[in-house]
Amino acid sequence: MSKVCVVTGGGSGMGLAAAKLMPKDHIIVVSGRTESKLTKAVEELTAAGFTAHAKSCDTSKRDSVQALAEYAATLGEITNVIHAAGVSPAMKVTPADLLHINALGTVYVNQEFSKRMHKGSVIVDIASMSAYTLPEAMLPKAAYALAETDEAAFVDALLKICAVVEDAYKKNGLAYSLSKNFVTWYAAKCAFDFGPNGIRVASLSPGLIATDMGNLEAGNGGPMLVFSCENRMGTPEELGFAIATLADERNGYLAGVDILCDGGTIRGMHEFKKPQ
Ligand SMILES: NC(=O)c1ccc[n+]([C@@H]2O[C@H](COP(=O)([O-])OP(=O)(O)OC[C@H]3O[C@@H](n4cnc5c(N)ncnc54)[C@H](OP(=O)(O)O)[C@@H]3O)[C@@H](O)[C@H]2O)c1
Repeated sequence: MSKVCVVTGGGSGMGLAAAKLMPKDHIIVVSGRTESKLTKAVEELTAAGFTAHAKSCDTSKRDSVQALAEYAATLGEITNVIHAAGVSPAMKVTPADLLHINALGTVYVNQEFSKRMHKGSVIVDIASMSAYTLPEAMLPKAAYALAETDEAAFVDALLKICAVVEDAYKKNGLAYSLSKNFVTWYAAKCAFDFGPNGIRVASLSPGLIATDMGNLEAGNGGPMLVFSCENRMGTPEELGFAIATLADERNGYLAGVDILCDGGTIRGMHEFKKPQ
């Protein structure tokens, strides 16, 4: 049976870069909301020697994710899921959109795919270094479990925290950080939930990376780069390699953790380049 690797947000950026570095014996399924991006991604993957398919999916809708998982299962055995779909604060989104797409989208992806995955398979959820920027006391961890049982209460609890700031961009920034902190928590929870079935789950938190999204955020996130080891953004290819490595079945013991791939930014901010 063919191995199938599904990449949400695979039409661009780090998702597409990771897809290009997967083993060529895996069928690649790229998904996202914009058909034209998916068509171009399939063309690039095919030119690089992959068997690749496009399937539209809005990861903020469970039935859409379910349809994607069902489609992928018709192609072979789903062995790798790279969940890179996400939106960021500078886009035309509200705090509620950020929570639905980034946080609840991860719940739908992990739940719907794990139902169709078997021993030796892996899910990699893409979070963000923003997950590490809020003080521990501000993180509503007690509300995180509600994402599986009461979505409205989960969203309300996180939106209440965003209400502490007035500026619209800062509100979105807070919602983004909370959504990505949730992703790191939820990936770890799933690692323990699915581990007994041999499904490995881990998350990866990129720093500021020069993708369409990263370039859009550069005005606001750019000042953080001074805290990185080399004072620079990461490239999609560098992150693609880190993600594809984490998603490689041979990395079987890398589970239940978040890999902070940020060029040292968070460590620099808290310790080695701490502002005086
Ligand atoms: N670039 C950075 O600096 C940075 C830093 C930290 C974390 N991240 C995270 O890394 C991941 C990949 O981002 P990227 O930098 O590679 O940016 P990107 O090129 O914009 O990729 C994000 C992809 O997600 C898709 N997407 C957005 N909303 C979606 C939805 N509701 N359903 C399905 N697909 C959706 C987008 O396609 P459509 O719009 O066509 O759906 C797009 O292809 C994101 O989760 C992002 O939050 C990025």
